[in-house]
Amino acid sequence: MGNEVRITPSILNADFSNLVGEIDRISAVSDLVHLDVMDDKFVPNFTFTFEAAADLITKSALPVDAHLMVEDGDMAGPQFAEFGCASVTVHAEATSNIAQTLKSIRKIGSRSGLALKPGSEIEAYSEFIDDVDMFLIMTVEPGFGGQSFMSEMVPKIQRTKKLIGSRPIWLQVDGGISEKTIEIAASAGADTFVAGSAVFKADDPAEMVRKLRSMAASIS
Ligand code: DX5
Ligand code: ZN
Repeated sequence: MGNEVRITPSILNADFSNLVGEIDRISAVSDLVHLDVMDDKFVPNFTFTFEAAADLITKSALPVDAHLMVEDGDMAGPQFAEFGCASVTVHAEATSNIAQTLKSIRKIGSRSGLALKPGSEIEAYSEFIDDVDMFLIMTVEPGFGGQSFMSEMVPKIQRTKKLIGSRPIWLQVDGGISEKTIEIAASAGADTFVAGSAVFKADDPAEMVRKLRSMAASIS
């Protein structure tokens, strides 16, 4: 069908002492940069204070796709929209008032995303579909880069794609996406791909982004 493909590299495994420079390396070939915000509570890892994230969002050469792995999605979601992110994704498991939070994110001017951990089923959240611009299906347990793609998530990606139908909602996958797995995820219906270690551990990150895009595009 020639669906659109988006590659959103994650800088979780990039050089944290020069993130603006790391984003520059992939900016010409990527759609957005995926910013993993972790609070050491919702997940057992910490990445940025909100202040440091806000600073990076301002300096980034690419529009920012924030993935908030933090305890209070209701509070953090709108705040990251205010920081100027193009897209803000909260976790369903960390957000009490999902509809309200997604609406607030949109109202401030960002795309609204809803992320599901591997143990969460999409059917439990289908009621929010009209407030969602992107579903994020985690294909690893959130917290760390460099883990293996969970192929048991494929049926969930397929069911999410079916639920989306013809709506203009992006379907993102995150975790273990590489040359070995991107075609599996694309075949299941994903159109927006986070890749962290595959991109930043490559000798030429920009070339890897191009390669991943052409692999995914050949499927859709
Ligand atoms: C994990 C993060 C991912 C991570 C992906 O919790 O949400 O975005 O950076 O890294 P890779 O692509 O190495 O699995
Ligand atoms: Zn992520």
